[in-house]
Amino acid sequence: MNQRIEAYQKRIEGFLQQLLDPSPTPVPDLLAAMRYSTLGGGKRLRPLLVYATGEALATPDTALDRIAASVEMIHVYSLIHDDLPAMDDDDLRRGKPTCHRAYGEALAILAGDALQALAFAVLVDEAIGLDADARLRLMQELADAAGVRGMAGGQAMDLAAQGKALSLEELETMHRLKTGALIRASVLMPARASGTDPGLAQSLGAYADCIGLAFQIRDDVLDVEGDPALMGKACGADSLLEKATFPALLGLEASRRRARELVEQALDHLQPLGPEADLLRVLARYIVDRMH
Ligand code: IPE
Ligand code: IPE
Ligand code: MG
Ligand code: MG
Ligand code: MG
Repeated sequence: MNQRIEAYQKRIEGFLQQLLDPSPTPVPDLLAAMRYSTLGGGKRLRPLLVYATGEALATPDTALDRIAASVEMIHVYSLIHDDLPAMDDDDLRRGKPTCHRAYGEALAILAGDALQALAFAVLVDEAIGLDADARLRLMQELADAAGVRGMAGGQAMDLAAQGKALSLEELETMHRLKTGALIRASVLMPARASGTDPGLAQSLGAYADCIGLAFQIRDDVLDVEGDPALMGKACGADSLLEKATFPALLGLEASRRRARELVEQALDHLQPLGPEADLLRVLARYIVDRMH
């Protein structure tokens, strides 16, 4: 299974390399900043979810590569902006200086903007091998996940919540938006691309909702007890910034328990699928066991 995961990680790296081809542009610094943050780092969890869903549903490969690249680009853009001084003000990401530390704030903002635009361009390209309606549906799904009712909305809630006490319900909503929405899209986009029936798409969506929330709970827990050397980013920043997090509200043990419960629920939602969904099962467990 690990070999399959590594093969997919290599595959998305190669495809992202290709999309961010360093051939001459009028703005080499901007392209360099995009490549710096996108290539050679990260767990590639969202692309892995795309490929795993593709395995479960036998989605065509060309569509999978493009969907995987599009969600990873939105994710990288969100990380670049998340690290900016106006947001979490972080110096380290994926084991190296954050984009704004390496290239300056203005280029970091633009690198995020340009990655977001490229994410949609990658889906609209005919090379994806889907008809125009199917491409539009993918773009709609990604736009919803990235926008005001998805990642960007959740990030705004995260900033507004600093120094305030949220209820458990509000905290869950924030996590589902800022992190869950893109994880859901990573599962639903390949499902849409393979014309999955609504019942199965609903089960997959429910699986993704559970692991999306569990993923951010684990991220919050690792910010408290993780090893920065393994994580490639700073730990302890959430409490300094008085972020609304699961450990702050429930404590570490209850947070870990909640994440584990969510993963069990996620696995229940995969019951309609057989061994073809085993990689989705492995990824669900990995989300709560991971140390980085
Ligand atoms: C970090 O995401 C930001 C969150 C949404 C919690 P990842 O933990 O997936 O970061 P990379 O892609 O592996 O660097
Ligand atoms: C970020 O959450 C979620 C995003 C949409 C980027 P965090 O702010 O907790 O992510 P890290 O811990 O900096 O990776
Ligand atoms: Mg943040
Ligand atoms: Mg952050
Ligand atoms: Mg965090």
